[in-house]
Amino acid sequence: MADRRKIVVTSALPYANGDIHLGHLVEYIQTDFWVRFQKMRGNDCVYVCADDTHGTPVMIRARGEGITPEELIARSHDAHLRDFTDFEVAFDNYYTTNSPENKALSERIFAAMEKSGAITARTAPQLYCEKCRMFLPDRFVKGTCPKCGAEGQYGDSCDHCGGTYAAEELGGPVCTTCGGTPVVRDSEHLYFELEPFRDFLREWLPEHTTSDVSNKLLEWFGEPLRGWCISRDAPYFGFEIPGHPGKFFYVWVDAPIGYIASLENWCSKTGQRLADWWPGADGSGEATADGVKPELYHFIGKDIIRFHCLFWPGMLHVAGIRTPDKVFVHGFLTVNGEKMSKSKGTFVNARTYLDHLPGWALRYYYACKLGGTTDDMDLNLVDFVHRVNSDLVGKITNLASRGAQMLNKTALGGRLGALDEEGRALVELARSRADAIARHYEDRRFSQVPVEVAKIADAANEYFDRRQPWLTIKTDVEATRTTLTTILNVFRILAIYLKPVLPAYADKAAELFGEDPWCWEDVATTREGESIGQYEYLATRIKPEQVEAMVDAAKVKPAESGEVAHESRASKNKASNGAKGEVAPLKSEIAFPDFEKLDMRTGLVLSCELVPKSSKLLKFELDCGALGRRTIFSGIRDAYPDPSVLVGKEVLFIANLAPRKMSVGVSEGMILYAGEPGKSGGVLSPTSPAGAGTPAT
Ligand code: MSP
Ligand code: ZN
Repeated sequence: MADRRKIVVTSALPYANGDIHLGHLVEYIQTDFWVRFQKMRGNDCVYVCADDTHGTPVMIRARGEGITPEELIARSHDAHLRDFTDFEVAFDNYYTTNSPENKALSERIFAAMEKSGAITARTAPQLYCEKCRMFLPDRFVKGTCPKCGAEGQYGDSCDHCGGTYAAEELGGPVCTTCGGTPVVRDSEHLYFELEPFRDFLREWLPEHTTSDVSNKLLEWFGEPLRGWCISRDAPYFGFEIPGHPGKFFYVWVDAPIGYIASLENWCSKTGQRLADWWPGADGSGEATADGVKPELYHFIGKDIIRFHCLFWPGMLHVAGIRTPDKVFVHGFLTVNGEKMSKSKGTFVNARTYLDHLPGWALRYYYACKLGGTTDDMDLNLVDFVHRVNSDLVGKITNLASRGAQMLNKTALGGRLGALDEEGRALVELARSRADAIARHYEDRRFSQVPVEVAKIADAANEYFDRRQPWLTIKTDVEATRTTLTTILNVFRILAIYLKPVLPAYADKAAELFGEDPWCWEDVATTREGESIGQYEYLATRIKPEQVEAMVDAAKVKPAESGEVAHESRASKNKASNGAKGEVAPLKSEIAFPDFEKLDMRTGLVLSCELVPKSSKLLKFELDCGALGRRTIFSGIRDAYPDPSVLVGKEVLFIANLAPRKMSVGVSEGMILYAGEPGKSGGVLSPTSPAGAGTPAT
């Protein structure tokens, strides 16, 4: 290709202390579409990423698991890379921010920031936990919101009123790690002042982001730009700041520098010069050797715009390093129209998905939904099954499976023929969309690609049905060959169009035609007269039951949900330290009005018997005072081999549960029982026996 571009592409670096989930994949999958498209076009495109390893959460989590941060991040690195690979996300380099390259780059860039005078030191009061011997990051302290009085709010903002404040302003602050009460201590911190870059940024923003993003950020330019605190106190897992002992770079300083570090690492593995790919990054200030100006693009989610569009260009600018050509911002994933929820089973980890469904199906669906805007994107699970089955499998893949199988299994002997006039017109129609589809990829309007492809597939299916090859095979073998040649050539073009979205699928399809992996230019070729290979399944239908099983597996009860990471860890530790067996998962949280609906009463056990033919049930007769007598069946036989021990006891029961007809009789309530799985528990009995039938709440 004459004007071969040199392109560096990044996705945001996922945190090392968590699993990859379907939300993350919105980003990595779309970046991968774009990178694969660029490579198919013959451009030199390098896709780098890394784990974002530094910061307090990694440190605390490692501590909680009794391992070193290095062990934790090594484990995450493997798990993340495995997830990405199974979703066909192909990085040219997947590195770590905890690397020698990143340390050296961070120090060099910081030195340039300091030299420019943009680094200032300020003393500020901060919460300090004496038990944990550390300053507490905002997310590690909870207390009462100083604005609205809501309890249990984090140190930076209130979930209830949305107010923001400093952690020291919280009422009754509690260290979320140890439960202790933190004190206020002064600490000196380093700030990166943005005000000196006001003019640079005001010009930079509109040209390097979309207008909605830059307009949002430019709103802050009405007043002096606030400096950004870039230091953290020890103990901190990260890089110590040269010349400032005991202070560490805030994780968001070395995280974006990790893009360069990963690229540098790739360069040293592949014998390239960093300056040729990211001008200025090696500190030499040299221009690129081959004269081709490299392009640089970041794909990020809308939650991290500030870091990528203000601080990062500021840092690069002051250090004389190329700033990105464009920051591509995407929205957030919702599932079935709502925020992903652990209790609903819609917060799905990459691995949980892969345990039940194929990666290519999600790639195809995401392609259908990604328009290249900052709008949120919905994964509707019913629509997901439908689109994959009816479009990708039913419409598109069907062309290949019907066409190839008929060509192989009949007198046609697996050999393509020549196109007739109608066939050529159809193939030309398919081919004529190449430039438009390439534009869609280039502009990240991925959702237009399946639309274009489906339109062509519709025309091809219509042609197939009209030519009735399953009938003509008995009467006119050569006419049938012509029909199938058309169908397979159209399919071939569609598979090339879909290759950035479905790489493994397209490679298998290329094999069917006996070809090497396709590049974009292969659209121009027509296959006539050649033999094709055996048809191998490219994509098969997915079943709603697979989705249900995935949602079931993802359903986590609030106690283990990890919404608050350290709390979930604490409970997991308890589980693994305790006897065998796990902590019983909690059911999903209910609101007070739900609880209030329960009418709990006490009743005196008049009789309690085994139920014949049931291995679980006990039959209770209760004297419920004013409520009269009640019969209740309860599935707690395991706990009471001799149920007569309960006679004469008072038990708590729910009195307003609708009577339930069971095979052994009608049950008129529910006896309260508590215990741990594996161990037997017991019925709840009021400690000081109140009169039977008095309300318990
Ligand atoms: N470590 C930082 C990024 C540092 S980049 C120098 C971070 N990590 S993250 O793991 O929280 O997110 C990684 C990327 O995934 C971000 O771009 C983020 O916006 C994106 N997503 C995380 N959850 C997402 C959804 N639910 N939906 C869409 N994208 C989401 O931020
Ligand atoms: Zn503490």
